[in-house]
Amino acid sequence: MTTTASRPGAEGSRAAISARTLRTDRWWLAPLITFLGLTAWVTYATVRVFMHKWFYVDDYHYLTPFYSPCLTDRCGDAAEFGTPLPSFWLIPEAAFTLPFLLLFRLTCYYYRKAYYRSFWLSPPACAVPDNHKSYSGETRFPLIFQNAHRYAFYAAFLISVINTWDAIRAQTTGLGLGNLILWINVIMLWAYTVSCHSCRHIIGGRLKHFSRHPVRYRLWTVVSRLNTRHMQLAWITLGTLAVTDFYIMAVSAKWISDLRIIG
Ligand code: FES
Repeated sequence: MTTTASRPGAEGSRAAISARTLRTDRWWLAPLITFLGLTAWVTYATVRVFMHKWFYVDDYHYLTPFYSPCLTDRCGDAAEFGTPLPSFWLIPEAAFTLPFLLLFRLTCYYYRKAYYRSFWLSPPACAVPDNHKSYSGETRFPLIFQNAHRYAFYAAFLISVINTWDAIRAQTTGLGLGNLILWINVIMLWAYTVSCHSCRHIIGGRLKHFSRHPVRYRLWTVVSRLNTRHMQLAWITLGTLAVTDFYIMAVSAKWISDLRIIG
């Protein structure tokens, strides 16, 4: 077979085969599962964010991460940072932070791969042709804004600090299953956040000699190890966020009682 190293799309750059792809495995399964998983999660999160109720358990200070920090009059005792936002139904309680979290996830290297494959089919899998005629990559509007990821990382870092504060505050009331769920979620959020490719670059990038920066080198090796699990952490945190929110909703709505261990 003759191969050429010319740029993609140039005449003669592809072998002349009539089949759409020569792959015979179930290459479509992964993008299909990704499509269903992300669609289900986004639907759940959207419904919850605009529900405006069952987001806080007064007795144990459980606040769902979807409403943190809580900034409208509806927040009651959950409003730890004031109530600067109007209580209009289109405005989520956490309207200051949700856009940054959305930006962080949307521009994440892993999620980019996930939705380019499963939603845009561009391409749907390796060795399966793109479903679009042209491809300009991330060099032009609008995808050039994917470069904002490095800035979104700093915002996500601060939001993880707020989530940690929520878990600490809930801890002051004793210990229940809700506390354990909140802590597991926070730990996983930190693991996902620091395993970010931008974080890895901030810590260990642009260094000519690791030997002259032993602390950064140590941190970089830890982050690099986590970074190899970034995809798994991306999915795990979607799961822990949904479970945490659902549990707090269920306790707040009095469908179930919190399982208390202490207090
Ligand atoms: Fe995924 Fe930064 S690359 S969060």
